[in-house]
Amino acid sequence: MTRYAQIVGWGAHLPERVLTNKDLEEIVDTSDEWIVSRTGIRERRIVHSPKETTGSLATRAAAAALHRANVDANDVDLIICATSSPEHQFPATACLVQDALGARHAGAFDLSAACSGFVYGLTLANSMITTGAAETVLVIGSETLSRIVDWSDRNTCVLFGDGAGAVLVTASEEPGGILSSVLGSDGSGGDALSLPAGGSKLPTTVETVAARQHYVHMDGRAVFRFATRVMASATRSVVAKAGLTLDDIDLVIPHQANARIIESSVIHQLKIPPEKVFVNVDRYGNTSTASIPIALCEAIEMGRVRPNDNIVFVSFGAGLTWAAAALKWGAPVSATPHKWWQTAQRQGNYGAARAQSTVRRLIRNSPGIELPEIEIPEIRLADPLRNLRI
Ligand code: ACO
Repeated sequence: MTRYAQIVGWGAHLPERVLTNKDLEEIVDTSDEWIVSRTGIRERRIVHSPKETTGSLATRAAAAALHRANVDANDVDLIICATSSPEHQFPATACLVQDALGARHAGAFDLSAACSGFVYGLTLANSMITTGAAETVLVIGSETLSRIVDWSDRNTCVLFGDGAGAVLVTASEEPGGILSSVLGSDGSGGDALSLPAGGSKLPTTVETVAARQHYVHMDGRAVFRFATRVMASATRSVVAKAGLTLDDIDLVIPHQANARIIESSVIHQLKIPPEKVFVNVDRYGNTSTASIPIALCEAIEMGRVRPNDNIVFVSFGAGLTWAAAALKWGAPVSATPHKWWQTAQRQGNYGAARAQSTVRRLIRNSPGIELPEIEIPEIRLADPLRNLRI
C-alpha cells in the first residue's frame, strides 16, 4: 500500500497587539510611505505580555490544528517546531509545546533553517510518514521576532512581526498530499542575515551586548537579490519534480517577507497570475517560519483552497536557505464537524496536561520520590522492522 502524507489540520495564532507603520514613525526615522512602497507592509502583530512566547504562540496554533483535524495530542508521534526565535538554545521550544499539549507519545525538536524552516519541517514530516516511521506529525512555525530585532535599526525593525502557524500531517491511503519538495542552502551567504552573538562562537559578554550583536543584522539588498532569484527557481524545480507544469498550479503561498520579492519572483519571472498568489504581508509583516502556515490558514478561510487544488509553498531565509513544496490538497475545507463535547474534552485534556506537568516538576524536585515511568505506547506504526528494533 502506498502511503501519502496529507495535511488534515491547520491553525494559526497571532498576538492581539497591532503595530502600524505610523506607530513605527514614533520609534525610528521612517515613514508609512517608505515602508509600504519598499515592502508592502502596513502593520504587524507584536507580543506585549511576557506570557506570550514562541512556545505559547506555537501551542495555540498547534491546538487549533489538532482541533481542526479532531485528533488528540496523544496521537501525535512527532512535533517539529521551526523557529528563528526559540525560547532558549535548549530545551527545544518543541518540547515546551509537547508538554503544554500533553502529547505524551511525541518526540519533539526544533528546526533551524530560518524562514525556510516550515517547508523543511513539512518535507521531513512527509519523509517520516511515507516511509512508515510516523503516522501523525505536527509541523509548527512560531516566532517572537520582536524580541530579537533592534528597535533602533530602521533597516530591520520595520520588516518583522510575531505569530505562529501549524499543520497536522497524517498518513493516508488517499493519493495526493505532499507531492514533492526542494531544499537548498548556500552558507557562503550566512553573513547577509544573522544574529551574530549569543551562540557558542560569540558567547554573551558585556561587549557583545553593548555592540548590539544579539539582534538581527541584515544586508537587505543582498537578501533581496538572492530571494528574487531563488523563489522563482525553487518553484520551477518543485513543480517539475511533482510532474506538473506552472499552469497546473492553483495557488502559490510564498514566504511573506516583502510584496516586491513576491511580485518580482512569482508574478513577473514565473508569470503566475496575481489571483493565484496569496499575499498577506501587508497585515503581518515577515513572521519568518510562521508566515506560510498563517497564510495557508487565511487562504483556507477565504475560500482560496479547494480539494484537489495543486498548491506550492516556497520560501527563502537566513543561512542562506530556500525550500519549496508542491501538494495536492486532500482535506475537506468546510466548517469543522466537531461536537461541542469533543471541544470541551480537548480543553479538559489541556488542563490535565498542565496539571500533570506541574506534578511531574514537583516530584522531580522532591528528593526520594520517584517519577512514574512514562508510558511507552503500543507499537502501531506500519513499519514491520520497528518491532525488531525495539
Ligand atoms: N525607513 C526609511 N528609510 C529607510 C528604511 C526605513 N525603514 N530602511 C532603510 N532606509 C533607507 C536606507 O538607509 C537607504 O538610504 P541611503 O540610500 O541613504 O543609504 C534607502 O532607504 C534605500 O535602502 P535600500 O536598502 O536600497 O532599500 P531597498 O529598496 O533595498 O529596500 C529592504 C530595503 C526593504 C530591506 C529590501 O532590501 C528587502 O526587503 N530585502 C530583503 C529583506 C528580507 O526579506 N529579509 C528577511 C529574510 S527572511 C529570514 O530569514 C528572516
